Amino acid sequence: ELVRGITGIHELEEQLNRLLGIAEVKIIPGDSDDTPVVKEELGQACADQLKKILKAQNIIAVTGGTTMACAAEMMTREIGKGKQILFVPARGGVGDDVKNQANSICAKMAEQTGGSHRALYIPDQVSEKVRESLLQDPNISEVLNLIQSANIVLHGIGDAIKMATRRNTNDADMDKLLKEQAVGEAFGYYFNIEGEVVHKVSTVGLQLADLHRARHAVAVAGGKSKAKAIQSYMKSAPPNTVFITDEGAAKELFKAL
Ligand code: F6P
Repeated sequence: ELVRGITGIHELEEQLNRLLGIAEVKIIPGDSDDTPVVKEELGQACADQLKKILKAQNIIAVTGGTTMACAAEMMTREIGKGKQILFVPARGGVGDDVKNQANSICAKMAEQTGGSHRALYIPDQVSEKVRESLLQDPNISEVLNLIQSANIVLHGIGDAIKMATRRNTNDADMDKLLKEQAVGEAFGYYFNIEGEVVHKVSTVGLQLADLHRARHAVAVAGGKSKAKAIQSYMKSAPPNTVFITDEGAAKELFKAL
C-alpha cells in the first residue's frame, strides 16, 4: 500500500511536469491546508532544492508569505558552506505581517545560511511621484539592480482574493480583480484562469521578465485551496521553474488540467 502510494506521487509529479511544461515538479505527501507540518516539509524541499542549485556566488531574490517563511526556517549553514549568497527581497513591501515580509525572510535566510542580505522598503500603494523620488535613492536603485541580476528566484503563489485582502487592497483595485476574475497571485502580479495578467501592484522590484532571465526559479505553494491559483500562474511560469507542492494541491490541479 505504501509503495503504491509513493509510486502514485511520482507518477503525478511526472504527469504534472509534462502538462505544465516546466523543469520539475516535486510533490510532498499530504495537504498543507489541513496539516501544518506539510508546509514545513514544503519549506524543507525548497531548502533542499536551493542547496542543489547554488553556485559559488549567488544572488537570490525571495518573495514573502508563510510558505517562504517556512523555507527560511528550514535553511542551514550546511547549505551555504563555501558559497557566497546574497538574499534580496523580490519586491518592495507587499502588505504582509512583518515576519512574513520578504525583507524579514531574506534576513532570516541570510542568518540561517551564513549569507548576507539587503533590504528594500517601498510600500505597495505609493503615488507615482513618491515612487519616482524613491527610485532616485542610490541605495534603492542598487538593490533593484541586484534583484534584476538574481540567478535564483524563490517565490510563493497565492489565491488572488485572499492575497488582495491580506494586502488591504483599495476598493477600486479589489473591484477590478473581481471583475477580471483574478484567481492567482505571485510577486505582485494577479492572473486570471487563462494565465493573463489582470493587475499588478505598483511596487518596484522583480518583473516577470526578470524571472525568465534568472537561471532558476523555485515556486513553492501547496494546499488544495491553491489549485486554481497555481493553475493560473503556471501559464506564465518560465520553463526553468521547479515547482514544489503538496499532494492536496497537485491532485486538484491535475483534475483541472
Ligand atoms: O506576499 C508575498 C507572497 O509571496 C505572494 O506573492 C504570494 O501570493 C503569497 O505571498 C503566498 O503566501 P503564503 O505562502 O502565505 O500562502
